[in-house]
Amino acid sequence: MKNNNFKGRDWLKPEIDYSRQDWEKILDLAFMLKKRFAAEKDTTKILKAQTLFTMFFNQSLRTRSTFDAGIQQLGGFHCSLEPGKTYTPARKGFDIPYKTERIKDVAEVLSRIGDAIAIRMYGPPAGWNYGFAHATMEEFAEYAAIPIINMECDKYHPCQALADMMTVKEKFGTFKGIKMTMSFAYSGSIEKPRAVPQSVILAATLMGMDVTLSHPEGYDLDEQVISKCEEYSRQNSSGFRIINDFNKGFEGAHVVYPKAWGAHACFNYFDPETGKKIKEQDHAEAKRVNDLAKGWMTTKQQMELTDKNGIYMHCLPADRGQEVTDDVIDGPQSVVVDEAENRLHAHKAVMALIMGGNI
Ligand code: CP
Repeated sequence: MKNNNFKGRDWLKPEIDYSRQDWEKILDLAFMLKKRFAAEKDTTKILKAQTLFTMFFNQSLRTRSTFDAGIQQLGGFHCSLEPGKTYTPARKGFDIPYKTERIKDVAEVLSRIGDAIAIRMYGPPAGWNYGFAHATMEEFAEYAAIPIINMECDKYHPCQALADMMTVKEKFGTFKGIKMTMSFAYSGSIEKPRAVPQSVILAATLMGMDVTLSHPEGYDLDEQVISKCEEYSRQNSSGFRIINDFNKGFEGAHVVYPKAWGAHACFNYFDPETGKKIKEQDHAEAKRVNDLAKGWMTTKQQMELTDKNGIYMHCLPADRGQEVTDDVIDGPQSVVVDEAENRLHAHKAVMALIMGGNI
């Protein structure tokens, strides 16, 4: 496979920056690496002696383990730079003497030592300031001479979306004609990022699936993301619609993806031009809409409404007993463990391509 299109590119918001053909190529490589993994074939020449730096500002099981294992399976090294143990990387204008280090300096230094930097940041480390975490990653990309990988920010979780597209392709063999519903699901935890639903609906419309977004009052997603989904669905002559009816989202769907995300009121919003705060977090409002959404739990009753081959997806971790019942997530329609495994193969494909691997 020729990988010249990919070498040196960032993986920040590939649902927007990469074409559908690029996604197809990455998926093809992910499937090939999955086959080689199952056959216990040596893949350690692909990124031999290359170094991946990771920075997790938030907790993680799947993303951390799959990048760590993945780079080593490709012959490279993993160096975990725990924020707090290093000087915390800070954007211009957010420096704290001897506690933080300007992103420009961090990015330039790491670019001399290793081959890619993967970052996770959303929520508390970004003060729930919507867009701050993504801007942090963009500042890294501005100064780094090596690729930056978004392992989840406050807007996008492209690594999850790629593994999810891989899982859909694996189960149905195609995206064409596949009806997916990305649905809100209730959780007692009010503060959650929106990165997964936003990346999943972007990737699904990009790949040409028929997509329904279903959520209760107060859980609207980013307007720019919605506009892009509408644009993709027009380009692909597929459907994209938004509904506010939990059960309706399941009717006839081939793929249902019910998961919790934060209400609009969870976030602080800023004017992108002036940087001025335009809307404050409102915890009382976030709690009000969350209480009203208590019925949005996936049970067998909803799963019976799906297509006869319908599958249940969730990025994990799931809030069992709130988002979903045990008999659904552990049931025959659930593919959540396949999705989690596919993170490994998807991330290996991304690293192999953007780090210029020997494929
Ligand atoms: N889905 C996901 O990103 O899982 P982790 O938070 O465990 O990495």
